[in-house]
Amino acid sequence: MDRCAGEPRARPGPATGVHPSEFRRVFGRLPTGVTVITAYTREGPTGMAANSVTSVSLQPPLVLLCPARSSATWPLIRAAGQFCISVLAGHQEEVARRFAARGADRFAGIGWQPRRGGPALDDALAWIDAELRHEHDAGDHTIAVARVIAIEAGPGTSPLVFLRGGYGQFWRGRRESA
Ligand SMILES: Cc1cc2nc3c(=O)[nH]c(=O)nc-3n(C[C@H](O)[C@H](O)[C@H](O)COP(=O)(O)O)c2cc1C
Repeated sequence: MDRCAGEPRARPGPATGVHPSEFRRVFGRLPTGVTVITAYTREGPTGMAANSVTSVSLQPPLVLLCPARSSATWPLIRAAGQFCISVLAGHQEEVARRFAARGADRFAGIGWQPRRGGPALDDALAWIDAELRHEHDAGDHTIAVARVIAIEAGPGTSPLVFLRGGYGQFWRGRRESA
């Protein structure tokens, strides 16, 4: 697209003209929820934090997430063929950090219950079991589309929020008493 007169000249970036750090900074202004994707493997449960989860279709019920090509955990979940998405509650920042940390025993001290797709983390807001159906190339990530096979909402309502590289909580209206 042509640049309008008086419009500041965009800083050139590598290849696309969009610098990765600027991309991160700008998209960091879009708040997201935080989930943990879990699955069963022969070696035990596995899981990773993900904020790219989005509902896609009601009929059939489909969900997507975007795993990084660099992820060591996603290939294990892909091999399992099904997974559980735990939607984290506002007080679960440490759980999010744990499931994003490399080299950590991510399940140490974490309570969970078995569900069809994978381990359902205790105290999460909701759990979504899904079977992987398609994976599409998308640059340094892929878009994984899965069919939702079971869902459940817990009693909690205040989600953990990821914004500008940090965590926060969200309450609708007046803050609920602790
Ligand atoms: C809030 C948050 C959201 C994340 N979302 C994603 C995501 O959508 N996709 C992804 O591949 N990694 C995501 N990550 C990174 C993974 O949790 C994990 O750190 C990364 O996959 C490296 O671990 P692994 O090699 O065991 O997969 C996210 C991390 C955080 C803290």
